[in-house]
Amino acid sequence: MADGDRHRQSRLVTDDDGAFDVERAQEEALPIEDGEVIDTDELADHQRYVEGRGVYDERNRVNDLTGREWKYATKSVIDEGYPPDVQHDLRSEHGGQKPPRLCADLIGRFSKAGDTVLDPFAGVGGTLLGASLCEHEGTGRREAIGFERNERWVDLYATVLERENEDRRARGEAPLASQDMRHGDCADLIEDVPADGVELLLTDVPYWRMDELEQTRNEHETRESKLGAFDASDDGTVEESSETSSPTRTKAEWLEDMAGKFERFAEAVSPEGHVVVFIGDMYRDQSYEFLSAELARAIESAAPLTLAANFVWYDPTKDLHVYGYPFSFVPSMVHQNVLVFRLEGR
Ligand SMILES: C[S@@+](CC[C@H](N)C(=O)[O-])C[C@H]1O[C@@H](n2cnc3c(N)ncnc32)[C@H](O)[C@@H]1O
Repeated sequence: MADGDRHRQSRLVTDDDGAFDVERAQEEALPIEDGEVIDTDELADHQRYVEGRGVYDERNRVNDLTGREWKYATKSVIDEGYPPDVQHDLRSEHGGQKPPRLCADLIGRFSKAGDTVLDPFAGVGGTLLGASLCEHEGTGRREAIGFERNERWVDLYATVLERENEDRRARGEAPLASQDMRHGDCADLIEDVPADGVELLLTDVPYWRMDELEQTRNEHETRESKLGAFDASDDGTVEESSETSSPTRTKAEWLEDMAGKFERFAEAVSPEGHVVVFIGDMYRDQSYEFLSAELARAIESAAPLTLAANFVWYDPTKDLHVYGYPFSFVPSMVHQNVLVFRLEGR
């Protein structure tokens, strides 16, 4: 190796005490990664320095993230506070809505610009709005398809997008792209998606009698109805849902239904794609219901999917409640789980 080459390899910018000298490094205007100056002449053919973001590896088949961004994206706890934005008040009519910026963050971890994202339980479009946000705040827009059986939420997504774009234009920002929200039952609509037609499936599954829960805005009533739904699961009572004429189910039936649906959904996901699922755990009858673990196992046993990760999304905006004090310990749930599956053997 020539002397000049050896010199370039160890170009750390240090001060007289041997500590990293940020000011000098900035003055010299060389790219810095993890406190070390990157010599772009030293990058391999498959590496590229991206201004302000670090080194991107062209072999990356999972996402568009640089090494530095990838490291952060693998952290198993998401403890970001997502502000109530993108027409939060309107979207809150749903009750189960997810922050579009959290969805954009997950889409950025598990897809590339131009990919297609499917949400078969789309609600008021957290995933769809997230896919559009990626155009302006991520590495590029993703196309998104949403299925939602309740027309009210389909219409609300359209209103949210319209109002959000009025606000964005007033702020001098480019509008969010409209995504493909389809009205109907996911079990039927999935038939229109070609095999391997999407790179990412990101969704937030419905619980028992979710429709009633979503339309109950009073917090107390919501809690009561949630518990009631669990009780129904215990004694096996079968009721007709007001909206879809599908029966209220036991937990086992719900798990079986979800597992069957994901088995079908998996056919629509390309071999290198991912399936990412929001699911909260619950507490009832002095017992912790580990729904995330049960759902993960049910999906793994039915669909050709392998659980690759579980992110815990800690939501710091959730209120704490004193449910059991001072006699019984009852957890205040301030987190949800985000299950990440990859396609098995692919
Ligand atoms: C937990 S919510 C999703 C909320 C969504 N993440 C958002 O940000 O608005 C689940 C949604 O799935 C819908 N849903 C339930 N069963 C469905 C089915 N078989 N086909 C299509 N949509 C369904 C419900 O109406 C509900 O809006």
